[in-house]
Amino acid sequence: MPDDLVVTNGCTEALSLALQATCRPGETVLVEAPTYFGVASMLRDRGLRALPVPIDSTLGLDPRRVEDAMRRTRVAACLLIANFHNPVGCLMPDDRKRALVRLLAERGVPIIEDDIHGDLQHEGSRPRCLKADDLDGGVLLCGSFSKTLAPGYRVGYIAAGRWHDRVLALKRSQSLASATLPVLAVADFLRNGGYDRYLRRVRRAFRDQVARMREAVAGAFPEGVALSRPQGGVVLWCEIPGVAAMDLFRRARAEGISIAPGPMFGPQGGFEHCIRLNCGHPWSDRIARSVRTLGRIAHELQARGVRANGGAS
Ligand SMILES: Cc1ncc(COP(=O)(O)O)c(C=O)c1O
Repeated sequence: MPDDLVVTNGCTEALSLALQATCRPGETVLVEAPTYFGVASMLRDRGLRALPVPIDSTLGLDPRRVEDAMRRTRVAACLLIANFHNPVGCLMPDDRKRALVRLLAERGVPIIEDDIHGDLQHEGSRPRCLKADDLDGGVLLCGSFSKTLAPGYRVGYIAAGRWHDRVLALKRSQSLASATLPVLAVADFLRNGGYDRYLRRVRRAFRDQVARMREAVAGAFPEGVALSRPQGGVVLWCEIPGVAAMDLFRRARAEGISIAPGPMFGPQGGFEHCIRLNCGHPWSDRIARSVRTLGRIAHELQARGVRANGGAS
């Protein structure tokens, strides 16, 4: 229902309002490991602790691991990206989604659902949100049009369930309202069917771009590289054994190539041999060249690592 939604300044403000509504400083938030790098800084800025729970690269978070983690640590909320996770791209199956929502509802723990990539499936129908299984208003659904239309519009939303009034009060005291013009433009695009037509086109484009990037990386990177199989969205997660992601990041930057190093996505570090590649741009000779350059640097770093380890032993 329209009255259940609060319009926000992108998904970032939606997540921030959700955290403020559900958690007090010093409390702990269960998050996926890895997770979107903005989450770690948001938690830090609000004086919240992260409880990272490792995810499976195809099925996402396992409810049994969540149950286990919550047995040891009291959590105030869970912040999850069930649909086309950033950075891994995985999609949580519906049975896991239902089990998670049930488990957390039983424990009285709210779920902050980041669904920013949910409209961007590569095949089939749009995946369910965790919110679809929410019976008691315990899920705060956050999203935006940043990944589909343009990040610069800053049009996002939150359906905060039983925290709606609290979120509305926080939004009013912090920014009063969102700028009307971009919101009306997006609303008109949604109403006249333009958004659905546009999505059909970009879903195909993103699927092809991710596939081409995957193929190019598999051909150019050192043997043993493990690549995610994103089922939606625009990012590819690569684990390159023996290659320090920060070294690869620095060498790539010197060549004018932008990659996101794995440690950015670890709420408490880790992922030192992982990088995230963005496949959001149409495939081009320039991107193909950049992937080959990255592959060459990765080979050099790996060989240097092998030599160094050989020398030490
Ligand atoms: C998973 C995730 N959540 C939130 C955001 C931030 O979205 P927005 O630009 O709408 O604030 C991003 C942007 O990259 C993202 O990938």
